[in-house]
Amino acid sequence: MSSRLIVVAAVLALLAILFTFFNPQTLFAPPPVPGSKDHLHAAQVLHVTGAVGPESLVFDSRGEGPYTGVADGRILKWEGEERGWTEFAVTSSNRTDCVRPFAPELEHVCGRPLGLKFDKKSGDLYIADAYLGLKVVGPAGGLATQVVTEAEGQPFHFTNDMDISEDEDVIYFTDSSTIFQRRQFMLVLLSKDKTGRLMKYNKLTKEVTVLLRDLAFPNGVALSRDGSFLLVAETTTCKILRLWLGGPNAGQVDTFAVLPGFPDNVRRNSKGQFWVALHAKATPFAKWISSFPWLGNALPKVGFNFKQLHTSFAGWKPHATAIKLSDKGEILEVLEDCEGKTLKFISEVEERDGKLWIASVLMPFIGIYKV
Ligand SMILES: *[C@@H]1O[C@H](CO)[C@@H](O)[C@H](O)[C@H]1NC(C)=O
Repeated sequence: MSSRLIVVAAVLALLAILFTFFNPQTLFAPPPVPGSKDHLHAAQVLHVTGAVGPESLVFDSRGEGPYTGVADGRILKWEGEERGWTEFAVTSSNRTDCVRPFAPELEHVCGRPLGLKFDKKSGDLYIADAYLGLKVVGPAGGLATQVVTEAEGQPFHFTNDMDISEDEDVIYFTDSSTIFQRRQFMLVLLSKDKTGRLMKYNKLTKEVTVLLRDLAFPNGVALSRDGSFLLVAETTTCKILRLWLGGPNAGQVDTFAVLPGFPDNVRRNSKGQFWVALHAKATPFAKWISSFPWLGNALPKVGFNFKQLHTSFAGWKPHATAIKLSDKGEILEVLEDCEGKTLKFISEVEERDGKLWIASVLMPFIGIYKV
C-alpha cells in the first residue's frame, strides 16, 4: 500500500470516529460568545466598486479617506459620495494582467496590500504587501517603492501588518510565514506552521531586526498608547501576544488575551483600547484538529479543497465578530453579526468619531457601524 493510501485511510478513520461521537451540526457551528451583542447587522455598507477584499483601512493626517488595499493590488481612497473611490497607489509596476477583482494566482505579480499605516511626520503611506514586502508611497500616491524584503537573509513570504512609532522612527511589522504565501493561509493554520516573525525596521539606519520568531501565524500589530508594549495577533493560537518594549520586562512576551476565534488586525482607539477583528470564531472541529497537526497537513493532500477546509475552520455560518480589549487585555465588548446578515469574515475594526469602520479580506465592501 502506498503511503498516500495509508494517510487517506487514517484520515478517513479519524473523521469517521469524530462524526460518530459528535453531531456535525455543532462540530462546524461557530460557538456562541457569552455577553456578545448581535448588533453588527445594523452596519451601513460602503461598496468598494469593482474590487473585493478591503483588508485594512486607514485615514490620513487630514482625516481624509479611508484608504484601503484590495485584492487586485490597488490602494483606493474614498473621496466621498460624489467622487467615490479613486485609485491612490499600487505596489507593482507590472499590472497588465491585473484586471480581475480577485485572482489569487496573480497576487505575486499584482501585489496584495494588507496592513496600511500613515507616517504622521512625513505623510508617507507604509504598506505591508503580502508578496512584495514592506513598501512606501508619498502623500500624492502612485507607485510604491521598496522599503525592505528580507530579514537575516530570509525573504518575507507573507508580510501582513504593521504599526509605526513616530517617536522612535521605527516600524514594527509581521511576516506570517517563511514557508507559505497569503493565498495558502489555510495551510498556515492547518499545518500549525510556526515560522512567522515579528520585525522592527529603523527608518533612520534602515536596519531590520527580528524581534520574535517561531510564531504561529503572526498577523495584526498595534502599539500601546504610551509605547510601552506592542500587541501581535497570533492567528493559529487564537491569542493576542504582548511584547514589552520598555520598563523592567522589556523584551519579554506574554499572553495579552485569549480569543474565541482567529484574530486578524488589531487597532488602537483614541482611549488606548484595542479593537480586534476575528476572521471567524473557531469551530469545535478547528479546535479538535489542532491537536493533530499531521492530520491538518494531510487534509489538503487527500483532496479537501480550500472552501471545504475554510468552512470546517470558520464554520458553515459566515459571521462577523469584533472584540474590544482594555489596555490590560480584558474583553470589554463583543459585537457580532451572528447570522452574517450584513458583515462576515472581517479583518479590521477602526474606531473613529463614534463609528467603527470595518474591513474584510473577502467581501466587496466596508461596514460602518455607529457606536
Ligand atoms: C509581468 O507579469 C507577467 C505575468 O502576468 C509575467 O509573465 C512577466 O514576466 C512580468 N514581467 C516582468 C517584467 O516582471
